Amino acid sequence: MRAIVVTDQAAGTAGMTLAERPEPQGAALAGLSGANYGDVVVQVHASGFTGDELSWPSTWVDRLGRDRTPSIPGHEVAGVVTALSYGTTGLSVGQRVFGLTDWVRDGTLAEYVAVEARNLAPLPGDVDFTEGAALVMSGLTAWQGLFEHGRLRAGQTVLVHGAAGVVGSMATQLAREAGAYVIGTGRAAGRQTALDFGAQEFVDLENDALEEIGRVDLVFDVLGGDIAMRSARLIRAGGTLVTITGPTEARPAQGLAVDFVVVPDRAQLSEIVRRARDGRVRTNIGEVATLDDAVAAFNPTERVNGKTIIRVRP
Ligand SMILES: NC(=O)c1ccc[n+]([C@@H]2O[C@H](COP(=O)([O-])OP(=O)(O)OC[C@H]3O[C@@H](n4cnc5c(N)ncnc54)[C@H](OP(=O)(O)O)[C@@H]3O)[C@@H](O)[C@H]2O)c1
Repeated sequence: MRAIVVTDQAAGTAGMTLAERPEPQGAALAGLSGANYGDVVVQVHASGFTGDELSWPSTWVDRLGRDRTPSIPGHEVAGVVTALSYGTTGLSVGQRVFGLTDWVRDGTLAEYVAVEARNLAPLPGDVDFTEGAALVMSGLTAWQGLFEHGRLRAGQTVLVHGAAGVVGSMATQLAREAGAYVIGTGRAAGRQTALDFGAQEFVDLENDALEEIGRVDLVFDVLGGDIAMRSARLIRAGGTLVTITGPTEARPAQGLAVDFVVVPDRAQLSEIVRRARDGRVRTNIGEVATLDDAVAAFNPTERVNGKTIIRVRP
């Protein structure tokens, strides 16, 4: 099968190449060999890649720390199940699915991917594969940050950093839909986008005083550093700072700081896709490219706003 592979961590996205790789063995899965307990093979229709994946250890080594290059990046998928192993509860061959694949295994920038069934959810027939793939990372990250780690409730105020970005725009929409008051932030150029996604106020971090917004119950941080530190001081007693930028020194004086990495979740994917079908949330897609053009799409000459989705099958 054709796939994007990486072999050199130092090369970054410039080191991506389109190569021929062995297909995941559907026949071995179906033969109940046991080695792939719980796996399905998915024919990839659309794939998503997160910008800093190539800096994650999981792209380069397996769970035992062994070199796993050449590895296939991309862990967001929408496609069709082509083979099942033993223990693949809830899915069938021919079913449309979408979800998040294991960080330490070959990913979705490929024609086929082997993935644990529990990491996938059914993708309704009226949701396009491109849309499905774009919902995975933004939807799960925003959902988990707001509702699991942030315990957001209706009537609360949430500060969403990077509200015009991929994750921030989804967090803005889900928080609004949950009845929260949303203050978005970003650069001046992102103001209208953030407001269009539902932010009720916008703070231009380069020109406005963040400290003037008053107190908030939750900070959803995608920027880290000094912005996270300053944001922590705005949090009411009992509130939470949630960040997706890694371990943080930022800590509210009388609240909780949580850094987390998104995890697959079938039930949450179903909630998110239901909202997309209802028109309650929409994706923030910047560019759609073919597998042939994927390397160029991940090495743009100009900044692309929004998610890049690789449409592996037309
Ligand atoms: N932990 C996890 O599970 C997890 C999951 C998903 C993503 N992430 C990470 O989360 C981060 C955000 O991802 P994303 O896909 O949402 O990125 P994105 O689409 O680039 O969004 C970031 C937004 O913040 C704005 N921004 C960046 N730096 C800024 C600054 N200094 N001041 C003001 N605004 C600034 C960007 O504006 P410009 O476009 O103008 O720069 C953009 O609108 C990435 O580092 C990603 O790797 C972590």
